[in-house]
Amino acid sequence: MTSAPTHLLADGNSLPAVGLGTYPLKGPDAVAAVSAGLRAGYRLVDSAVNYGNEDAVGEAIRTAGIPRDEIVVTTKLPGRDHGYESTLASFQSSLDRLGLERIDLYLIHWPNPGDDRYVDSWRAMVHLHEQGLARSIGVSNFTEEYLTRLQSETGVLPTVNQVELHPYFPQLALREFHELHNIRTESWSPLGKGSDVLTSPVIVRAARTHGVTEAQVVLRWHVQLGSVPLPKSADPARQAQNLDIFGFELTSEEIEEITLLGRPDGRLFGGDPVTHNEQ
Ligand code: A2P
Repeated sequence: MTSAPTHLLADGNSLPAVGLGTYPLKGPDAVAAVSAGLRAGYRLVDSAVNYGNEDAVGEAIRTAGIPRDEIVVTTKLPGRDHGYESTLASFQSSLDRLGLERIDLYLIHWPNPGDDRYVDSWRAMVHLHEQGLARSIGVSNFTEEYLTRLQSETGVLPTVNQVELHPYFPQLALREFHELHNIRTESWSPLGKGSDVLTSPVIVRAARTHGVTEAQVVLRWHVQLGSVPLPKSADPARQAQNLDIFGFELTSEEIEEITLLGRPDGRLFGGDPVTHNEQ
């Protein structure tokens, strides 16, 4: 079993340096995939209300035979539940579906700026954190502008911002902002799912140089950028491979070359937080 090193978050909690993505797994497939992931050594599992798999993720965690404190389970508040009271209620339903007494990392899934209720949700999350029900609180898909607004209106910054991040969309400016404010970046779609990123010549070359797979090169690139990748795979061999990225190091030239694959708008799913409206 491989285990990942951890980062220390701004609130003093620790976060594994790589986690298991679960979208779009559901039902028994999700239970099997998360159970296999936990056996392989994953200790960070990423779920969301809108993935429809909190029940399955919870079941895998509850039956894994691993001390609960060793696992960081993440879930995310959906857009339709933004607002102070509705966030508290939504959190309780997530706990019920997961069958757990605490969520380790609770994120606002999308800012939905058109609804303009993410600050109210954030206040509710600060309350949940103070109550010890949400061990760490953060956001997903937030821009610098929305993060700054949380800070100025509530005085509390998220510990984590989970954003689309892969070689075609390296998020240079946002990562710099995170570093300045001690916000840990997490990468969704770290392998650039569905694109040809894994066949890019610079990535293929680095894989040959280090005797690893292209996916391992890309995941290692995330780690060396300081971001926590959340690769999804239901396949035990790939799960193990995706965790086994701490035994080699990319050179600064390789990191630079991979980052240069970035495109002006390299988003793969059109999920621009300024316009995206999540239900
Ligand atoms: P599968 O689930 O069949 O293993 P992302 O995490 O960027 O969304 O990418 C997920 C996609 O990448 C899935 O289609 C997954 O396929 C595939 N994938 C996950 N791990 C690897 C790997 N080590 N090598 C190649 N493809 C992978």
